[in-house]
Amino acid sequence: MSCSALRADIRKSDVDRFRAAIVQQIGLQFDDAKLPFLNEVLQRRLDRLRCASASYLGGLEDHPSCDELSALAQELTVGETYFFRHNDQFRALAEVALPERMQARESSRALRLLSAGCASGEEAYSLAIVAQETITDPSWHMTIQAIDLNPTALKKARRARYSAWALREAPIDVRQKWFRANSRELVLEEKARGAVQFDVGNLASANPELWQQSAYDVIFCRNVLMYFAPEQMRAAIARIAESLAPGGYLFLGHAETLRGISDEFHLCHTHDTFYYRRKESAALAQPHPSPIRAGVRPARAVIPNVVLATAWVDTIRQASERVAALLSAPSAEKIATRSDSSGWTLAPVFDLLRSERFAEALDYMCSGPAGADHDSDAILVKAVLLAQSGQIAAAQEACQRLLLIDELNAGAHYVLALCREHAGEYGRAMEHDRLAAHLDPAFAMPRLHCGLLARRAGEFDAARRELAQAVVLLKREDISRLLLFGGGFTREALIALSESAVTDCGGRL
Ligand SMILES: C[S@@+](CC[C@H](N)C(=O)[O-])C[C@H]1O[C@@H](n2cnc3c(N)ncnc32)[C@H](O)[C@@H]1O
Repeated sequence: MSCSALRADIRKSDVDRFRAAIVQQIGLQFDDAKLPFLNEVLQRRLDRLRCASASYLGGLEDHPSCDELSALAQELTVGETYFFRHNDQFRALAEVALPERMQARESSRALRLLSAGCASGEEAYSLAIVAQETITDPSWHMTIQAIDLNPTALKKARRARYSAWALREAPIDVRQKWFRANSRELVLEEKARGAVQFDVGNLASANPELWQQSAYDVIFCRNVLMYFAPEQMRAAIARIAESLAPGGYLFLGHAETLRGISDEFHLCHTHDTFYYRRKESAALAQPHPSPIRAGVRPARAVIPNVVLATAWVDTIRQASERVAALLSAPSAEKIATRSDSSGWTLAPVFDLLRSERFAEALDYMCSGPAGADHDSDAILVKAVLLAQSGQIAAAQEACQRLLLIDELNAGAHYVLALCREHAGEYGRAMEHDRLAAHLDPAFAMPRLHCGLLARRAGEFDAARRELAQAVVLLKREDISRLLLFGGGFTREALIALSESAVTDCGGRL
């Protein structure tokens, strides 16, 4: 919508300032399509406060009051939540995180949990229920703190009365044990209710009381940071990392990842879910990762010499299409121009790949300076080439070295999936694909690969799901990443392969 559609008494520049101040003070990011909405919110705030826009915006930028931030939170935030949302994570909490933290805190026998962005309390109370069911020894002391910027949501949380809809994912025995019906509401038992302390808190601000060093054993911060601007998400994660004890656990929402955001965590994958564990201090001393940047994602095909499926093999035969794609690909200079102090760069390798001179490309990578052995981009390219040339053990070794530098490297997990498949370990291959897809939700190839593996295993529901997602992602996949990971196939060929595999599995697109 153009700015002429904005209310006449508010200028476009005011709405832009308002949007920037919201990022600064609350963390939330709004795209251009939301400008009319922001215009309305700004107008409501000005009407309510009887304030001119210049003085309101100046105050918001320089010293916003808690009341004003709370009022804005009510206008701007999404409060969707329910009990036992992503129950797999609560199982991981009960069976991995809490037992481990109990061991670590054996001497103090005290645990602290935080629900950050708790909305109307369902997540925090789910934590309380799981913690109380897991830790039955009364000599343990447990504190569960819950914060949100929206005071209306917190008021509802403190009431602890919910509709049946809020319990739609809660296990039946939890409902029976922890709630009693009162008229049309379900009232939470006092034991869980009294275990949680709710406070107004802002994830976008450096509140030293909230973010004390090593204060928490477990933090749930789910479906909040996905709405944040990248720099605010990075800052919030840095505060969370600081306030988690080494070895403490962080649970994010399904669509949220720390890839490219923080290297202070190990990624954990159990109970069909992902979560993070703060590195112990020695591990934190590891070199900082050098994440793959879009412009450095180089050329192409890593599919080792394995038979994925008939359709895949058929697609391999479409050589002419593949070559056409390579010839129309962006220049290697565009893809990789970075050089080290000796002037060595990754660029020639892409020229070699584009002309299908794979052995020479691998020779080039092997003759790189010593520094290239510590550069995550160079290691990934080398791993790709090794896998492509059938040197699976060396490719695997390169990936493992890369993961030591950058544990959250999605490309390394994808190449490892190919290596595991080559070894006939299909389950482990799918696990690496799922890690890659989790770390980078826009990465199409692990979805496609996982879908093909699931189809081979006769898991048709899972195959259809993964392949359908692959189709969606392939349509917008970055061209340089397709060149690197796409097996030398065009986007269209990969989409056609995925679609035909969906049909094979009894699905329709
Ligand atoms: C979608 S809900 C998530 C609730 C719960 N964590 C879950 O996953 O079910 C997002 C919550 O984050 C809160 N929020 C947004 N920005 C915040 C901020 N800067 N500080 C604290 N809470 C914030 C919103 O008020 C909202 O209640």
